[in-house]
Amino acid sequence: MKRTCSVDPWLITEESLQPQDNRLAESLMSLGNGHMGMRGNFEEEFSGDSLQGTYIAGIYYPDKTRVGWWKIGYPEYFAKVLNAPNFIGIRVNIDGRGVDLAHWQVLSFRRTLDMRRSLLTRTFTVADETGHRFSVETTRFLSRKRREVAAIRYAIRPLDQAADIELTPYLDGDVANEDANYGEKFWELVNQSCTVDVSTLTMKTKKTEFFVTTAMNWSVTGVDNPSITHREHDKHVENTVSSRVGQGQSLQLTKFVAVTTSRDWAIEELDSAAEKRVREAKDLGWDMLLDEHTNAWERIWADGDVAIMGDAEAQQGVRFNIFQLHQTYTGDDPRLNIGPKGFTGEKYGGSTYWDTEAYCLPFYLSTMDSSIARNLLIYRHNHLEKAIENAAKLGCRGALYPMVTMNGEESHNEWEITFEEIHRNAAISYAIFNYVRYTGDEEYLAEYGYDVLLETSRYWADRAHYQPRKDVYMILGVTGPNEYENNINNNWYTNTMAAWNLRYTLDVRRYLERHHPQRLKDIETTRGLTAEERQDWATIKDKMYLPVIEEFGVFAQQDGFMDKEQLTVDDLPAEERPLNQNWSWDRILRSVFIKQADVLQGLFFLNHEFDLETKRRNFEFYEPRTVHESSLSPCVHSILAGELGLESKAYELYLRTARLDLDNYNNDTEDGLHITSMAGSWMSIVYGFGGLRIHDDTLHLQPFLPTAWEGYSFKLVFRGRRLRVSVSRDACHIGHEQGKPLDVSVHNCMVHLEQGQATDVSHA
Ligand code: BGC
Repeated sequence: MKRTCSVDPWLITEESLQPQDNRLAESLMSLGNGHMGMRGNFEEEFSGDSLQGTYIAGIYYPDKTRVGWWKIGYPEYFAKVLNAPNFIGIRVNIDGRGVDLAHWQVLSFRRTLDMRRSLLTRTFTVADETGHRFSVETTRFLSRKRREVAAIRYAIRPLDQAADIELTPYLDGDVANEDANYGEKFWELVNQSCTVDVSTLTMKTKKTEFFVTTAMNWSVTGVDNPSITHREHDKHVENTVSSRVGQGQSLQLTKFVAVTTSRDWAIEELDSAAEKRVREAKDLGWDMLLDEHTNAWERIWADGDVAIMGDAEAQQGVRFNIFQLHQTYTGDDPRLNIGPKGFTGEKYGGSTYWDTEAYCLPFYLSTMDSSIARNLLIYRHNHLEKAIENAAKLGCRGALYPMVTMNGEESHNEWEITFEEIHRNAAISYAIFNYVRYTGDEEYLAEYGYDVLLETSRYWADRAHYQPRKDVYMILGVTGPNEYENNINNNWYTNTMAAWNLRYTLDVRRYLERHHPQRLKDIETTRGLTAEERQDWATIKDKMYLPVIEEFGVFAQQDGFMDKEQLTVDDLPAEERPLNQNWSWDRILRSVFIKQADVLQGLFFLNHEFDLETKRRNFEFYEPRTVHESSLSPCVHSILAGELGLESKAYELYLRTARLDLDNYNNDTEDGLHITSMAGSWMSIVYGFGGLRIHDDTLHLQPFLPTAWEGYSFKLVFRGRRLRVSVSRDACHIGHEQGKPLDVSVHNCMVHLEQGQATDVSHA
């Protein structure tokens, strides 16, 4: 475990320059506003180790996956999240020498991410070859209010004697991805314009032809009559502001940037739109721009914070997670989704995994307006026809959603994952169930939901096959959520969720028959659904083969699971973990060790369908065999442990998710943050410790307080009401802040709350 940053409830601070951990700090200090984002890179040149990364939502490149062993049905391409033109850059020259923190003497350095305001600042003092010192303060933010706008302030002050200083704000389109075959670059210049007023750079991506215009202008204070020049070369525009700056005087440059893309604008409007946006930003000025940005963040925190009393590390951890989720996805654009790395790195091409439905949806459901979760669902509805094509490519009927996607097409390049993790289809159907159960928005089923349920059911019915010798349906050749095993037969989770998907579809159909008969008829006519097909679904769900291990009274992760050498994680030498960094893939595949919740994922999803004893037996069997080498894993185990009353186990597992990135638990945060698992960490508190469940149209809470904490509180949005829940050692305090009256079950006790009322329910 590596801690680069100090503990504080709202700040992530790196107290000194640690060049060997610069990438880690860059990941942690990432900024995003849903439209764009970037790592915590420096504005000035830096020749030390760094991953320069600026990313724009929805802008990707379809890289080659065709290799020698390409087979029918493999994905056509691997979607790469593109490093976009760099717009934060400001070169700094002092008395003719470029400032570079890798070479200059750094006397002090502090980089701070302010989570309350989504602001990145740096303060540092450097000395030149002759020992003369200069102090620098930088601040930047990506406007929450104006999603295409960013602003950067750079102030430099000679401390010992006057100096000739040049600040050169620039836009640079000559950028590359670190993860590129043979150093290939993915951007082409369309046009550029460089003036001392607004400068613009319009680039387009190869193949996908996304056009992006970046525009900048700036203002300068602190010196009189600086000299201003402009210069350009291929894919690069810059201005230079030069001045003699006296000792103790501060030269301050404010750079305003706008980024427009052809996803939102007609190509011929792009330049003028960016120019207009950047002029508006400058006219408004830094203070106003910052004010509206901070106000927007204040509202986010007012509705979505989790406060933890008595544990500063946990507090920082959960805030960091909530913060990064909001930076990644704002929910106002149904074409976008939540990438596992958000705007913080290049790894995990594509933006959408099953992570969204399985882990992120509950967070957005409970903390934001329901339209945001609805947009996440509509995203998949919009991709339904592509999912049908995807299934057809694999020789199946119905819809098979991609494991990884940017636009509905499969875009992953690991066949055993892409092909075989078909369980993601059920997560997409489950999200519909989860959304409707939480919001009560049954109209969604008629409008969008049934289409998706029908086509995913059709896929399952085709993909399962009848085994006459056992009179059951089986699903062969899959990868379950546990990616440490591929091409297995009858993964309990997949079979269970497939049967559930079929059953839920038939339930929804009954609802539509009663409430929306015409709509039902229209959908089924369009999709050509017959009564025989429906009858098949009913038979398949009833006869789905669900393997068990009788000896232990548990579900079998898959056929043959007990043939493996039955070791537990305690048998593993510490130096061999994580396995994925120490063992060959071959060894991992045949071992008993489980990467992430698999059977337990099913018990978490279908929590309402299994009794406590079943959950206990399975938890006791699978937890000791699970290495949790996916960041998505510990939260599910933690939630189940909480439900089973294993409070210290729940807390221990929670700790693995809460500060996963802040403490670099998996030793890979330098590549970017684990955004989707951050929602899991939020769930560990609200579902795990708070015991939140929804059934019978009612919100249930069954909270406990981890012994290490003095208390915690969170806000919830539920069916148009805003609630505040505080948990202390003795009781759960629940307050109704806004909306119609509501009955809530706390510790199985129904409490009636009107707006403005609050009540305590004792834990005893
Ligand atoms: C996990 C998958 C997940 C992916 C993206 C993998 O390590 O095993 O379940 O979808 O990461 O987060």
